[in-house]
Amino acid sequence: MADDIIAVKPEIAAKARIDAARREAMVAAEAKDAAAFWRGEMKRVAWMKEPTKIKSVDFDGDVSIKWFEDGVLNASVSCLDRHLATRGDQVAIIWEGDDPNSDAKVTYRELHARVCKLANAMRRLGVKKGDRVCIYLPMIVEAAVAMLACARVGAIHSIVFGGFSPDSLSSRIQDSECTLLITADEGRRGGRRVPLKGNADEALLTCPSIRHVIVAKNTGGAVEMMEGRDHWWDAITAGEGETCEPEPMNAEDPLFILYTSGSTGKPKGVLHTTGGYLVWASFTHENVFDYRDGEIYWCTADVGWVTGHTYIVYGPLANGATTLMFEGVPSWPDNGRFWQVCAKHKVNIFYTAPTAIRALMRDGEAPVKKHDRSTLRILGSVGEPINPEAWLWYYRVVGDERCPIVDTWWQTETGGILISPLPGAIAQKPGSATLPLPGVKPAIVDNEGNILEGAAEGNLVMLDAWPGMMRTIYGDHARFGQTYFSTFKGMYFTGDGARRDADGYYWITGRVDDVINVAGHRMGTAEVESALVAHPAVAEAAVVGMPHEIKGQGIYAYVTLKAGIEATEVLRKELAAWVRKEIGPIATPDAIQWAPGLPKTRSGKIMRRILRKIAANETEGLGDTSTLADPGVVQELIDNRMG
Ligand code: WT7
Repeated sequence: MADDIIAVKPEIAAKARIDAARREAMVAAEAKDAAAFWRGEMKRVAWMKEPTKIKSVDFDGDVSIKWFEDGVLNASVSCLDRHLATRGDQVAIIWEGDDPNSDAKVTYRELHARVCKLANAMRRLGVKKGDRVCIYLPMIVEAAVAMLACARVGAIHSIVFGGFSPDSLSSRIQDSECTLLITADEGRRGGRRVPLKGNADEALLTCPSIRHVIVAKNTGGAVEMMEGRDHWWDAITAGEGETCEPEPMNAEDPLFILYTSGSTGKPKGVLHTTGGYLVWASFTHENVFDYRDGEIYWCTADVGWVTGHTYIVYGPLANGATTLMFEGVPSWPDNGRFWQVCAKHKVNIFYTAPTAIRALMRDGEAPVKKHDRSTLRILGSVGEPINPEAWLWYYRVVGDERCPIVDTWWQTETGGILISPLPGAIAQKPGSATLPLPGVKPAIVDNEGNILEGAAEGNLVMLDAWPGMMRTIYGDHARFGQTYFSTFKGMYFTGDGARRDADGYYWITGRVDDVINVAGHRMGTAEVESALVAHPAVAEAAVVGMPHEIKGQGIYAYVTLKAGIEATEVLRKELAAWVRKEIGPIATPDAIQWAPGLPKTRSGKIMRRILRKIAANETEGLGDTSTLADPGVVQELIDNRMG
């Protein structure tokens, strides 16, 4: 089944923005003269001063990546102002609440006015170009307004997912020294409330850089407001005008920071700049989803992740699209919610994660078939490898074998999609992200960095830059070079493994580093370990990913307790709750195994390869354990494996 090929339907190719011939022409044009190609594509955003220098990239030495470097623009103008004359009364955002009876529509004109009011208020509070603003909001329209208001005044937004704990919020605010926090009283998810302001208050006990907090009233739940520091959104914007001078930004001025997990240490502040990112967001949104004027486009991600940044806000709005923003979850009030929303708002393009598909698949076809999906035209997948079984269910049941699926591979670091089918140009293979977009130059290298040709499997790297890629790690350019450009010299290392088949199609095999992907969310094993060892009962911890039917990967923790501490079920539950509180619900371990000892080399390095195999219950081929300091621990761990 995995080798099925689903050809492009002629009726789709005929109407698509890009058919096979056009794709070939684009790839050839980019290869021949990248500067000329991107000089053409850059016109998709509004420039105050058009750039004359297109690309200046060096992956060696200190690593320097610049696109459109003498151009001047403001991202909010491309997303709002320039649409006012032609589509001011078109709906920009359809908001669908957690409660199926609540929704709202915001036109481009209204969105522009709301952004300007907030931007004016921010300026009045002293926010200037280059200042960092943290956004900790639920999936409400204010999240998009806050992002664009930051862009308007030239402030760098750093969104922290509403599911993160006070500690996680605090460390992110501290790392980039944000001066303003924008949050809400509470969020809603699946009928429950999330105490955002309460979490923020706790976080802010350790965030001296924050001078002001703007609080959106969402649920009306009771919160404490600190005199002088905290301001209600409505009150602070009430007297502000509906126009606001956009800050002229150099193309390479930062647009946002987004923290993401790596193999080691604390989450890194991935920094994206203005011009290249916006061109890439627009280019990929329009072409990958074959977006057509007037269509309703829905990406189910949260704005707290990069998918929400690029494919709920910046890409769609830059393209003048109608983007749907969903506050809820796929399973509430029932597991037909996605399809009910598709029917209600006549969604044409639907973009979600494999984990959601797998969870819904369990409930069979009835909840899907109950709702009219005839408006759907394109389906998308993102965040983790999609197994062929889930792919085919998505294709047959959700899309009635009518809608092409775009399995889009990319990362927080890449800013936007790099490898994906184009619906009118590339035949699909269930489970393969297929081919690179024009301008993307992937390669597969072995562990020594040799480029492998033809059908091959190894490490996925990029040989050259594309406009939307990250420029640095906020405040730590050395770590940027170290993390992404030192494993394989002169190449961007993705951290993913991949296989390329005889047709040149890419099959992502998953992370090859110590990052795990839980339900499409990236988690560093080191982060979970450091949360565990912060508990007074824990002496040592090792965390690995394990296969999980719904989530793709689950979190498996091996814990060594301090001497004299009893290993009880109560303690096991307590540790799971502890991690949940320290990082957030997405980091909750799925299994905790007591480990009197961990397999280590004689130099003290934990052999994770062995721990991964035990967690996956693949204890047959454990490989060479002779270099272990104490080979006996392995059998002990196998005998007491969880699950
Ligand atoms: C990691 C990046 C892309 C935005 C959301 C996640 C995995 C992502 C796919 C895909 C196989 C995928 C990779 C990547 N991943 N999309 N279509 N097929 N794997 O962004 O949190 O930065 O995670 O997600 O392992 O490295 P992220």
